[in-house]
Amino acid sequence: METLFIGTNLMEFDCLASTNDFLLDLTREHQLPEGTVVITKNQQAGRGQQGNSWYTEANKNLTFSLLLYPKKLAIAKQFMISKLVSVAICEWLDSQGIKAQIKWPNDILVNEKKLAGILIENNLHTNGIRQSVVGIGLNVNQKTFPESLSFATSMTLLTNRNFDIKKALADLCGFIEKWYLRYSKDEILNNGYQQKLFALEQWRNYEDKQGVFLGKLIGTDTFGRIQIEDEMGGVRTYSFKEVVFRT
Ligand code: BTN
Repeated sequence: METLFIGTNLMEFDCLASTNDFLLDLTREHQLPEGTVVITKNQQAGRGQQGNSWYTEANKNLTFSLLLYPKKLAIAKQFMISKLVSVAICEWLDSQGIKAQIKWPNDILVNEKKLAGILIENNLHTNGIRQSVVGIGLNVNQKTFPESLSFATSMTLLTNRNFDIKKALADLCGFIEKWYLRYSKDEILNNGYQQKLFALEQWRNYEDKQGVFLGKLIGTDTFGRIQIEDEMGGVRTYSFKEVVFRT
């Protein structure tokens, strides 16, 4: 690793249920250095957002979790972690010739298919974020997906190349570290995130608790809320789970 701290304490396992769960359990008993990375070749019970599971073929993909102590980040701005990780992944993919987009809040898409997912689990205390466990699942060399995952893609399907997983991890850690060290510069990060946003400035169907409506995504704020212009010209602001894309 050519990083200052991300991934320098690297814990590698042939098989784990979930790297997030393993790292979370470990942090309950040990004070681990910031930047600790837990990676497995074969994750058997990966967790996704909103109680979903994360399926991955053994030995083909990146499944890892990273420990951060974002001491200076206010709780209200915890979405900045998601932003910086999403932007870092996209920038690294760009360096590999893959133009990815971020589907709010933090799915990584290429041609409307999902290439990577992020599961961030923060542990808060009264005035800040005690720790953040950032779980990343990225489809690298997997060539086929079960029918239920027809919306998934991989780096190899997109490029016809085979990637070295360990090198991918090292490079990606470098990009994450770069963005982590500058996350306090809200504006750069917000711009970086905005530029990669899937469906930005496009009229699409969305659904909130009142029903389906036509809207145009115009951006996100530092609290991670999405801003959608409606047909009346009004701007609607939503937090996680308050609105979904509809096709
Ligand atoms: C999602 O898109 O729903 C998020 C998927 C996150 C998957 C990763 S794989 C490594 C880490 N360990 C887990 O159990 N989940 C995350």
